[in-house]
Amino acid sequence: MKINIHKKLGSHNGLLLVSVFEEDLAKLSYPSAVSEFVRARMKEDGFKAEKGSLLSTYEKSGKIVVLGCGKKKDFTEKLARELGAKAAKQCRALKAKEVTVLSVPHTSEFFEGMLLTQYDIGQFKSEKKKDTVNIEIVNFVSEDKGLESELKKSAMLVEASNYTKDLVNMPANILDVDRMEREARQIAKENRYKITVFNDKQLRKLKMGGILAVNSGSRNTAKLMILEYSGGKRGDKPAILVGKGVLFDTGGYNLKPVNSIETMQQDMGGGGTVLGVFSVMKKLGLKRNVIGIIPVVENMISESAYRPSDILTMYSGKTVEITNTDAEGRLILADALTYATKMKPEFIVSIATLTGAVGVALGDRYAGLLGNDHKLLDALEKAGEEVDELGWKLPIHDDYREKLKSKVADLKNYDLGTGRYGGCLKAAAFLENFVGDCKWGHIDIGGTAFTSDPKEYQAMGATGHGLRLLLKFLGV
Ligand code: BES
Ligand code: ZN
Ligand code: ZN
Repeated sequence: MKINIHKKLGSHNGLLLVSVFEEDLAKLSYPSAVSEFVRARMKEDGFKAEKGSLLSTYEKSGKIVVLGCGKKKDFTEKLARELGAKAAKQCRALKAKEVTVLSVPHTSEFFEGMLLTQYDIGQFKSEKKKDTVNIEIVNFVSEDKGLESELKKSAMLVEASNYTKDLVNMPANILDVDRMEREARQIAKENRYKITVFNDKQLRKLKMGGILAVNSGSRNTAKLMILEYSGGKRGDKPAILVGKGVLFDTGGYNLKPVNSIETMQQDMGGGGTVLGVFSVMKKLGLKRNVIGIIPVVENMISESAYRPSDILTMYSGKTVEITNTDAEGRLILADALTYATKMKPEFIVSIATLTGAVGVALGDRYAGLLGNDHKLLDALEKAGEEVDELGWKLPIHDDYREKLKSKVADLKNYDLGTGRYGGCLKAAAFLENFVGDCKWGHIDIGGTAFTSDPKEYQAMGATGHGLRLLLKFLGV
């Protein structure tokens, strides 16, 4: 999509998108075709510029879409993003290839919303939809000198978000461990990041018992991928992002039932988000040292798969009794977190489709935020609010820490007594055993990574929830 910025509206190009606030209705100062049109709609149809209302017309001078924006004081970045999405859908319905945006506040978020709706879930259809016309050129009318770079930033964020969504939507027969490694290596090569990938032999040598056990039912081998970006000062402690990379979660011998198993290709959502962050972080000029750690496995059933009752020795040396093979994410993250603690980070943030329980607690609009450092969690929450990828802080109760102690090992991965109740909190209580004294925040995207009820600017399936949040949090 090409972006042009004009200081003044000339003979406008393509479809004209105009925002109208309630306060503007008394004194319309738009190009005359627009003002006349709005006045007529006010009189004949009672148009009040309510937020989210749309008007469109064909005038002699071209197509016009009027966007009702409500009251000026209520017009937030979130509304701008949603309105951008609505507007873009309308442009597509009107088959507009070129549009001109006039006077929309929070322009970059509006543009972000426009771009986010262009995401196409049909990446594997052999024939592309013939009747979709996508917007190719967007003209902005503005005197703001900083606007161009802001719009370019929006476009980069959306590209990264689309990339994460593509990965999360990809089924595990296509996104297998080799493909996941190729994706990471490609990103590393393009951006000159350092990359280390531990294979099966190295994982055994390191004694990463959690990662190896979870993958033991798969005919593919496990990998641990580590990406390193040095955007900060030499010697500055790195921020470490750890992302769950379960390419498919059958549940293992605690097999998932019908209606739970079908979308489990999403279980690498945390890892896909970390890759998305790395795909764009350098291009956005982030001045920080960042390390991404992604354990990649498949949780399958076979004669070599791990069993309930197995006792694992983790990379940290702690032993874990397996009480449920479907609580696998915490096992691979535990080893990855231990690895992270050895790199002397400023802090660690883990992101994972860790529990379905977080979806029961918070639905698909809020991710769960847990951890051991309130400042870190506040910062994640704030970043989420700014980009409309919300997070909600949840507690880890001391009793839950107790419940994960095992009679036969140091820990168990699941408490059979209390089961799924508070499952998200207990999963975090388990992870906490592996972060040492590092500052640690954890984002459970088990309810938000994938949706059947998309927001205005989302599509069915992968949402990318967490990607823009992490980038905002890291400071881009
Ligand atoms: N990958 C699942 C969690 C999940 C469920 C993510 C639905 C996205 C959508 C995770 O490995 C899992 O199976 N969690 C179980 C944990 C339980 C066995 C302790 C859960 O939350 O039901
Ligand atoms: Zn599971
Ligand atoms: Zn899982």
